[in-house]
Amino acid sequence: MTPHLTAAAEQRRLGPALPEDLRDAGERLSVDELRHEQLTRLQATLRHAYENVELYRRKFDDAGVRPEDCRSLDDIARYPFTTKADLRETYPFGMFAVPMADVRRLHASSGTTGVPTVVGYTEGDLSMWADVIARSIRAAGGRPGDKVHVSYGYGLFTGGLGAHYGAERAGCTVIPASGGMTARQVQIIQDFRPEIIMVTPSYMLTLLDEFERQGVDPRDTSLRVGIFGAEPWTEEMRREIEERMDIDAVDIYGLSEVIGPGVASECVDTKDGLHVWEDHFLPEIVDPITDAVLADGTNGELVFTSLSKEAMPVVRYRTRDLTRLLPGTARPAFRRIEKITGRCDEMIILRGVNLFPSQVEEIVLRTPAVSAHFQLELTRRGRMDHLIVRAEARPDASGAERGAAEAAIAKGIKDGIGVNVEVAVVDPDTIERSVGKMRRLVDNRDKG
Ligand code: DLL
Repeated sequence: MTPHLTAAAEQRRLGPALPEDLRDAGERLSVDELRHEQLTRLQATLRHAYENVELYRRKFDDAGVRPEDCRSLDDIARYPFTTKADLRETYPFGMFAVPMADVRRLHASSGTTGVPTVVGYTEGDLSMWADVIARSIRAAGGRPGDKVHVSYGYGLFTGGLGAHYGAERAGCTVIPASGGMTARQVQIIQDFRPEIIMVTPSYMLTLLDEFERQGVDPRDTSLRVGIFGAEPWTEEMRREIEERMDIDAVDIYGLSEVIGPGVASECVDTKDGLHVWEDHFLPEIVDPITDAVLADGTNGELVFTSLSKEAMPVVRYRTRDLTRLLPGTARPAFRRIEKITGRCDEMIILRGVNLFPSQVEEIVLRTPAVSAHFQLELTRRGRMDHLIVRAEARPDASGAERGAAEAAIAKGIKDGIGVNVEVAVVDPDTIERSVGKMRRLVDNRDKG
């Protein structure tokens, strides 16, 4: 509890407590009960991984640790990390800890850089996954009887099917739209009148443009809440979407290797970062360079150990995502992560200055004459990396306003981030549109 607040003011700060009958068993745990549950589950996970996955046995043995060396939650730091490279090395099924006959479903990451990674789920895993997504939907303000329009892609990507079964578990009616066929999605939203949409923020922008193209005011739809994730998005983007649609926009986070969407989620009452569903996923923050575990409140790379997964337990999985851990608010027992600012591997280093696409997003969205569509292109000029920021003009922007916007964005980046970049305000509808995860950065450095 924040010391200077009265109990009533504290409750106002946290928003209304979730009614008892809408909480699952995990959400009813006190902090002490949660820590106890986490330790029991962690010990079982380490045993399960060591006994059933060759790679974990080898890594634990090399590091000189055994599952029984874990006597407190802090002991997790003694165990070796797992990385995407480990999943590639054991492609496709080498990380599975149960016989194939017990695996009910497979998903895979898109694998933009070569071999994809495969993940597997037992019946128990699928049920836990539906539970954490149902919890996320309730945190976002969804209630049984709401209709949920799912525009995350269905298929090997975890977004569509993950959201689908979670929404069913929450007692909602699912509209399995998947990504694409944008004009039809807009029609369906008008006809079926969903209260909730689950979609990437960048595809939401594509849908918004389509509403306007069809002459429909997106503020007039039945939608009340949007649950957005699968890619980084900023507070500025939240404001843009909330204002254009008159909805509450909340954040959902997850990654295939850990389960999919639903690892952490934001509460609509507070919109202050994402509560990690810690009864199933144990978070740590580490220094991405030295690997040292960092204290809560410090920025670094997010690492997860699964606590209840059967088919593919993960031990200290390096997400590459950058954030920090904060105390719980609307769900006091669960710590929060701050909105993800970017990934370690998405960081652009320009003449020694570190820059993330999300920082550019903040600046672009603060600039009046441009829309929320932007893309970054990295090229090489001589021996130097060169960054071009392309942002679309709003349809009604004059030539002079476009010129002023270019100058304002360049100055915002110079003053805020400390580096000179080239800015081009381009015509409306010329930047590629997202139907799922948006590719913010195009790296053309090897294309002379
Ligand atoms: O993107 C799972 C997901 C689907 C999450 C739908 C939320 C909604 P992957 O394809 O394995 O899984 O990609 C995982 O996406 O490591 C982050 O870099 C990024 N990411 C996911 N959610 C967020 C978010 C899904 N809310 C990778 N904010 C992660 C920022 C996110 N980045």
